[in-house]
Amino acid sequence: MKIKALKGFKDILPDEARTWQWIEETARGIFHRFGFTEIKVPILEKTELFARSIGAATDIVEKEMYTFSDRNGDSVTMRPEGTASVLRSYIEHGLQVQQPLQQLFTIGPMFRHERPQKGRLRQFHQMSVEALGSGNPRLDVEVIAMAWLLLKELGLSVSLEINSLGCAECRTVFKERLVAFLDSRRDGICDDCRRRSTTNPLRVLDCKSEHCREQYQEAPSILDHLCKGCSDHFDQTRQGLTLLDITFTVNPFMVRGLDYYTRTAFEFVTNALGAQSAVGAGGRYDGLVEQLGGPQKTPGIGFALGMERLVLLLSQQGVAAPGTECDLFVATLGETASEKGFVISQHLRAKGLRVSIDHEGRSLKSQMKQANRVNARCALIMGDDEIARSEAILRDMATKEQVVIPLKGGLEEWCAGIINIINDTTK
Ligand code: HAM
Repeated sequence: MKIKALKGFKDILPDEARTWQWIEETARGIFHRFGFTEIKVPILEKTELFARSIGAATDIVEKEMYTFSDRNGDSVTMRPEGTASVLRSYIEHGLQVQQPLQQLFTIGPMFRHERPQKGRLRQFHQMSVEALGSGNPRLDVEVIAMAWLLLKELGLSVSLEINSLGCAECRTVFKERLVAFLDSRRDGICDDCRRRSTTNPLRVLDCKSEHCREQYQEAPSILDHLCKGCSDHFDQTRQGLTLLDITFTVNPFMVRGLDYYTRTAFEFVTNALGAQSAVGAGGRYDGLVEQLGGPQKTPGIGFALGMERLVLLLSQQGVAAPGTECDLFVATLGETASEKGFVISQHLRAKGLRVSIDHEGRSLKSQMKQANRVNARCALIMGDDEIARSEAILRDMATKEQVVIPLKGGLEEWCAGIINIINDTTK
């Protein structure tokens, strides 16, 4: 019997992997432009790290983590997100000593045991970004602007929603009012919301039930409960976004599924992916470093974009990754030509060209078919007859035009001539 991949775990096949590479390259380029550097952190961490950061009463920690005892009997967890691991590493290595503002990003797989559906997997991939060491709202704007620019460069159109979740003080007051409101509507809300009203009341606000949503239209709003500091911070964040011409809407119902957020929270949403509307999300987490045992008063903000959702959205919006076609297909006929072609290929690759060659001695017709399959821009055609005349044929695969090129002098000269003509034909 054939062994299949686990439910919710997906292979990324070569055609799709090209899109993934393009997204990652574009992201790395933009992150570098904003001064962010890459950090690579382990996939497996102590379970406690996630319970303490994401929050014990969240869906992720309560029911979605891949947690098991390792061979020493220690409880370990496959990371469900990147922020906790990056902060653990930041604290463990005292990165703030080298540079007080740390701007980090990491790209890789995350694991959540959710019910798989379109855009929702059990192993998924995030590009996760964290800026640590400044509480300035300008940083909130810069981080959002970076994600916004990336989405724009990928050619995607999504909407930005923002909210403020306040700080520990103003949220406590808000929570009390919200719980009182929920108590007054106890009979009209779903079982899940009733349970959450005691375990994690803010989360009721993003309940998917239409009926609950209607009720919550009348719920107290976090935005009416912000303290002066949080309210100023939110105003300045909105002003900064406007200054950069970034369109957004304020969504006071956005609460996020992780408990560490304070002040700014944001999501990039689309209605093109069914129930999974967020392609990326993030926010500020000013108390988290301290909560994980790091230096006091180290504010931070970040976001993560989901790779699978970006790839889905790109194909739905008809955005294609630029082709990674090959520059030259070397087609040969006969022993001598085959050997020459083999040597030329290696030499041209050393000069930076993407070259494919047939090793099976197939007919010219089937070699041309193969050249088309690999999307070659040009084909170099050489038979033993051409070699005897010290020449070869270079064919532009798109226009089908052919030129005879002399193979005079040594290998260096041949290759320089081929490269010149390829560059001319593809200008
Ligand atoms: P999150 O909202 O849990 O935030 O996830 C961020 C993004 O990861 C989502 O918007 C979505 O694109 C993707 N994602 C999440 N779960 C799945 C899944 N099961 N299948 C496919 N894609 C998924 C965080 O993880 C925070 N750590 C973001 C952050 C960084 N906040 C501050 N810094």
